[in-house]
Amino acid sequence: MFTSEEIRERVNRHLTCKKSDVLEDPFNHERISRIKNLLKEKNALLIAHYYTHPAIQALADETGGYVADSLEMARKGQAHKATTLIVSGVRFMGETAKILSPEKRIFMPNLAATCSLDVGCPADEFAAFCDQHPDRTVVVYANTSAAVKARADWTVTSGCAVSIIEHLQDQGKKILWAPDKFLGNYIKTKTGADMLLWNGSCIVHEEFKAQGIRELKHLYPNAAVLVHPESPASVIALADVTGSTSQLIEAARSMPNSSFIIATEKGIFYKMRKVVGDTKQLIEAPTAGKGATCKSCARCPWMAMNTLSGLEHVLDNQPDECEIHVDNLVRKKALISLQRMLDFTRVR
Ligand code: 13P
Ligand code: SF4
Repeated sequence: MFTSEEIRERVNRHLTCKKSDVLEDPFNHERISRIKNLLKEKNALLIAHYYTHPAIQALADETGGYVADSLEMARKGQAHKATTLIVSGVRFMGETAKILSPEKRIFMPNLAATCSLDVGCPADEFAAFCDQHPDRTVVVYANTSAAVKARADWTVTSGCAVSIIEHLQDQGKKILWAPDKFLGNYIKTKTGADMLLWNGSCIVHEEFKAQGIRELKHLYPNAAVLVHPESPASVIALADVTGSTSQLIEAARSMPNSSFIIATEKGIFYKMRKVVGDTKQLIEAPTAGKGATCKSCARCPWMAMNTLSGLEHVLDNQPDECEIHVDNLVRKKALISLQRMLDFTRVR
């Protein structure tokens, strides 16, 4: 298994995103209306994650597509009749769509949009780790490659991880968990399950600072703290609600508080604001401060690779370098672990 420094080094090698890739004119109306026409013409559906740019989320909303968390993205794409899906998010989300819908063509604006959790968990090294612990049920987070999912017994997202681990615990299973150590530790603490953890982390969420949140709580004593469970334990300890992106949006909508401190990627504020209306105050949890190393300020550099020009290019040309392909054998194995999650969450 990797040390944190080795993972950090690997991640840095993948960080090819430059500001210029990201900051085109995000509200280029001519381009937006062209993309809308292309989606119709090509019978394509746009599915975007909450962390993508507001212009992309608005496009999905306005064209009958979806803006969702990673679990719902998988479900919606599978259920829809469109023959082509444009997945705006990070690569594992496109791969998941392909695993669930092999008959559909799946494109992404930029296949280099990866995730530090995926980068920090190479399939061959993960398989060797699993081989050393044959007595454990292998549960992986959705933020992994198709090959890692293929080695797993179960795939989970942050929206259903706790209930699936509880279910396995009830069956007396010992768990091998990968890749996010913070999410793994959160589930372990919450359930008391016997979990062996891989040493991965999200470069965005690991930068939230407990001290900064405490200081904010001083300024806004009535604010509820909403935290994504990829954050460090010291940050989760301050949370009123810990959950997936959808669960955090729902918490902001349904809780009576007039202000919220939110520890997750900034893209979420677009949908959250729409859902809560104008009366509630939404405050960003700090990433900077003592010990901060993050330059992205709660921005996922890979989510930011989803641009309008990339969307237009994909729809116009359907280029091979933007199409998701998953080896058939890997796909069939990965489908088993993903389908377990979908079946489990459907019956609840
Ligand atoms: P959700 O499943 O909560 O949408 O999270 C995906 C993700 O990448 C969080 O960083
Ligand atoms: Fe991965 Fe973190 Fe980006 Fe989510 S925010 S896609 S976990 S790097």
